[in-house]
Amino acid sequence: MRRFDSRGRSTQKMVDQVRPLADEVGAAVSAAMEQALPAELASADPLVRPSDHADFQANVALSMAKRLGRNPRELAGTLRDHLVAHAPFVASVEVSGPGFLNIDLTDAALLERLSVRLTAPRLGVPASQADEVAVIDYSGPNVAKEMHVGHLRSTLIGDALARVLDFLGARVVRQNHVGDWGTQFGMLIQYILEHPEASWRSKDEDVVRAGTGGAVSALDQLYRTARAAFDADPEFKERSQRRVVALQGGDAETVAIWKEIVAESETAFQQVYERLGVLLTRDDTAGESFYNPWLNDVVDELAAKGIVEDSEGAKVIFFDEIRGPEDKPVPMLVRKSDGGFGYAATDLATLRHSVDHHGGTRLIYVVDSRQSQHFDMLFRAARRAGWLTDSVEAVHAANGTINGPDGKPFKTRAGGTVRLADLLDDAQHAARNVVAEKDPGLDQEELTEIARVASIGAVKYAELSTSRNRDYSFDVARMVSFNGQTGVYLQYTHTRIASILRRAAEVEGAGAVFQPELALEPAEHALGLALDGFGRALTEVADTLEPHQLAGYLYALAKAFTTFYESCPVLKGVSPEVRANRLAFCELTRATLAQGLELLGITAPDRM
Ligand code: ARG
Repeated sequence: MRRFDSRGRSTQKMVDQVRPLADEVGAAVSAAMEQALPAELASADPLVRPSDHADFQANVALSMAKRLGRNPRELAGTLRDHLVAHAPFVASVEVSGPGFLNIDLTDAALLERLSVRLTAPRLGVPASQADEVAVIDYSGPNVAKEMHVGHLRSTLIGDALARVLDFLGARVVRQNHVGDWGTQFGMLIQYILEHPEASWRSKDEDVVRAGTGGAVSALDQLYRTARAAFDADPEFKERSQRRVVALQGGDAETVAIWKEIVAESETAFQQVYERLGVLLTRDDTAGESFYNPWLNDVVDELAAKGIVEDSEGAKVIFFDEIRGPEDKPVPMLVRKSDGGFGYAATDLATLRHSVDHHGGTRLIYVVDSRQSQHFDMLFRAARRAGWLTDSVEAVHAANGTINGPDGKPFKTRAGGTVRLADLLDDAQHAARNVVAEKDPGLDQEELTEIARVASIGAVKYAELSTSRNRDYSFDVARMVSFNGQTGVYLQYTHTRIASILRRAAEVEGAGAVFQPELALEPAEHALGLALDGFGRALTEVADTLEPHQLAGYLYALAKAFTTFYESCPVLKGVSPEVRANRLAFCELTRATLAQGLELLGITAPDRM
């Protein structure tokens, strides 16, 4: 019988969980260091890395010998002797160069672990984040504006982080901090009231293309028109400002229109999320308006704690460390002089809610890097208020900008922001051409479906294989290529393995079972090491909040498989044991690729 803990996780652990060999090697080198080094140095990082010269290389002898004034090769020799005597999974250790340890592992150790992974749930990956409650704030589009390319990064990165942390056992709370409140609504509602003929509802639109948010386009247009009126006509501006007060005061007519606008946008956002296959649903939306009821209370709490100051009628927080031009301290504006609240106050309330209500232990904000000062101030204020403590961490997992193919900020020819939906259409079109060329035999329906899956995978992989903070160019042709580090290449590798396994199913008696007593070819050994490293790639994502750690891992895995497949026949001309073992390699690679792609939010098709 299986037991479950209070969060519904199985408590029947460890038999099904395999520690990555890289971690085992690290622990073995640490144990050797304990024997060979003074206590205060023995707990240093053993500096174990995968290597071109051996399965792993440990460089720790060099730095330690330097500190101790010892000969590094001699110290490395002592560590080697200890490793050889005590680590059963080590096949050989060689001291090379000035004192590197080149460590090779036995085939048997590898095969034993792979064999557990093949049958264990979750590929044997331990639930390393089981004590974490991760509140992930991502996407956060703005109501009445088209979701644009800027929101793509946060949406995809946040979604991948949510998937990976959940897989590693964390409780994940997804938070879509939609911009659904603020002074711009006064202007928008006032304009609508004064122009009953203006068309902005989806039913006003002749055509609403699925997934493109037709209604928001109309709303977006209206927003621009209202904005122009607001800037040009001081009387309209004043009426708009009164309208904001009416909205905040709960005036029925005003609130009704506001609700309608928000609902229109929400529908359009959901269409984009569905098209992208991201996890966000309406239930994950806790927009700016959601926190309204707590704003006064938050300011009162901060005032009672002596954190806010009065400044020209406004309530602000100053930080010694945060300074702007001319070294002037930059204030965090908590309450404006007219009594209104802004973005900062809302985020203070959001953060407090994430801790008090959701019980978050790690608050992750996947937001544009241009907001880094805002988050810096937010976290400092929250620490002063005692909301962030040693047991609650907050991180701004900042993302850079997407540029156009020319490397300059992405703009339409008319200079406007590029709609996300148009970009996805472009990618789908390009994928269709590439897939049709590769496989002219596909019928139209298949082709359309494959192009859809390939284009979404291509856009996601291009995003998730780049480090968050770096800017990159949205280059559709490169993204949908079958060659190079692309989502299409990984999906295609998955389909190739699926096809090998389909053919194997027709061969009588061909099962996929690892054979621990077999000696492996170098390409098999290398593939085995790559397969064993899956969990480690995931914990790296969890530690760094960088999905590219997983994206890069999957690419290396696919390449290791290709090398294996080129040099090791699977179905023909081999003994039944070798065939079973190689099929097990195929099956575990397929399962690992599929699982890894899923954690990036990418579909792994069986055919393409
Ligand atoms: N709506 C904001 C924007 O478009 C992003 C919200 C980010 N989340 C937050 N808690 N501030 O810039």
